[in-house]
Amino acid sequence: MRRSVMIGTGSALPKRAVSNDELSKTVDTSDEWIVERTGIRNRYIAGDDETTASLATDAARMAIETAGVAPDSIDLIILATATPNQTFPATATIVQNELGCNRGIAFDVAAVCSGFLYAVGVADSMLRTGSANRALVIGAETFSRILDWEDRSTCVLFGDGAGAIVLDAREETGDAPRGVLATKLHADGAHNQMLYVDGGPSTTQTVGKVRMKGREVFRHAVVNLSEVLGEVLDEAGVEISDIDWLVPHQANARILNATAKKLNMPNEKVVVTVDQHANTSAASVPLALDVAIRDGRIKSGDLVMLEAMGGGFTWGASLMRV
Ligand code: UT7
Repeated sequence: MRRSVMIGTGSALPKRAVSNDELSKTVDTSDEWIVERTGIRNRYIAGDDETTASLATDAARMAIETAGVAPDSIDLIILATATPNQTFPATATIVQNELGCNRGIAFDVAAVCSGFLYAVGVADSMLRTGSANRALVIGAETFSRILDWEDRSTCVLFGDGAGAIVLDAREETGDAPRGVLATKLHADGAHNQMLYVDGGPSTTQTVGKVRMKGREVFRHAVVNLSEVLGEVLDEAGVEISDIDWLVPHQANARILNATAKKLNMPNEKVVVTVDQHANTSAASVPLALDVAIRDGRIKSGDLVMLEAMGGGFTWGASLMRV
């Protein structure tokens, strides 16, 4: 059976790290509040010379190098972001040009924090049906550029970064095939006003700033994520105890713990990077995945569940054997 097998990962962070203490010099907040409510201790903020495209390109280069493939063998680039370099063309086309693989397909997906899951779902469908053979799937954000730095209820929560994976279409057989085994995606547009940006080209002709009803988002996140994880397990015919690692969207350590508890998943199997990266939106899952692969936690053959929930609402989960 033709499957999308992950053959490389990469990630990139801006040069500047910003601790809670540093932030509390300009924002009415404290390290104690941020750590207790979110688990966040640090985030990275892009400088003037760093953009969504530059971070995405760095992460993509690392993923391609790890995979050991030639850049021009990539025939599909899907980049998930809510903070593109330009309204158009797609940031994926900027990355494509930087990498020098100017053939094939390149486009962005907009599903905010769930964007990487949406991108994996679309790439997997295109690879399995033969529209492409080798995909670069990227999540990249410079969320700091759309934060309201006067709003302490949102600005302390987010950071910038990028993560990327290379998915290769391969024939996989046997009892434990590698590759993406099942993906489920959802959206419910009724919740637009819970988490959104108050601007856009067609309305205000501005970029807008992030607005969020944190408590409501928190409540929906735990319910929606538990449900979609159950759907993926059913589709793949595996039990929660079979999962080696859960790599969740890194929004809030309390959401990670509550979701793991609801699923009876031990905390030791949950990859947590929110303390170091904060919420990097579409970048958070591939960033955490790359960290856990590079530090040796996630090994070849492991069953890994990815999940995310974000503005829209959108949410999804994907199970893969790495
Ligand atoms: O990636 C997309 C998905 N996003 C999420 O998953 C985020 C989900 N939501 C959350 O993570 C949490 O709801 C937050 C971390 C955003 C907020 O935590 P909370 O426990 O729900 O706090 P709250 O919003 O109910 O605020 C509690 C108090 C308020 O003060 P009063 O009204 O009780 O006096 C806030 O004004 O904390 C205050 N507060 C702060 N204090 C210090 C809010 N932000 C801050 C801050 N520093 N940065």
